[in-house]
Amino acid sequence: MFMKSVAILISYLIGNFSTSMIVSKLWANIDIRKHGSGNAGSTNVLRTLGFKPALITFIGDALKGMLAVWIGGKLGGEDTVLLCGIAAIIGHNWPLLFGFKGGKGIATSIGVGIAVNPIVAFICIVIGIMIVVKTKYVSLGSITAISLLPILFIFSGFKYFVFGLVLALMAIFQHRQNIQRLLSGTESKIGQKSRTR
Ligand code: G3P
Repeated sequence: MFMKSVAILISYLIGNFSTSMIVSKLWANIDIRKHGSGNAGSTNVLRTLGFKPALITFIGDALKGMLAVWIGGKLGGEDTVLLCGIAAIIGHNWPLLFGFKGGKGIATSIGVGIAVNPIVAFICIVIGIMIVVKTKYVSLGSITAISLLPILFIFSGFKYFVFGLVLALMAIFQHRQNIQRLLSGTESKIGQKSRTR
C-alpha cells in the first residue's frame, strides 16, 4: 500500500513538470498562460511560439504520462498503473508547482494511453487527427478522441472503462471554454494566432 501511494504521489509530481511552461520560458521568456488561449499546452505553444517548441512540448508532456504508467507498473500492479496515469494527468491539469493552473491533459493522456493500451490509443489518435485535419479545430479533435476512450475500453473490462471515463471527463471539463467557443463559432482554428483569453 505504501509503495502504491508513493507511486501515485510521484506520478502527480511528474505531471507537475509543465513542459509548455518550461519551454516557453526558455524559448521566449514568457508565461504561456498569458498568451493565446491561456492554456499550458502544445496547441497554445504552437499558436504562440511555433512548431519546434510545440513539438518539444507535446513530446515532453506525452513522455511524462508514459513515465508515470511505467512507475506504476514497477511499484504496484494493474490498479496502480491506472491510478498513476490518472495522477500524472491531474498533476498536469492542476499543478501544485504552478498554482494549480496547468493544461488540458491531452498530450499527457496520449502518453498514458499509449503506455496502457497502444491499440486503443492509436485508434483515438487517428480519429482525433482526422477531425483536426477536417475541421482545423484541435480542441474538437481532442475532445472527440478522448471521449472514445471509455467506449473502446469497455472491451478491456470495467476498471478500464472507469479509467477511460475519468480521462474523458477530466478532458471535457478542461475544455469547457473551448466547447463554449465551438458552439458560438469563436474557437480558433489551427494556424490562427489571434485569440487571447
Ligand atoms: O490540447 C489542448 C487543445 O485541445 C486545445 O488547446 O490552446 O486551443 O485551448 P487550446
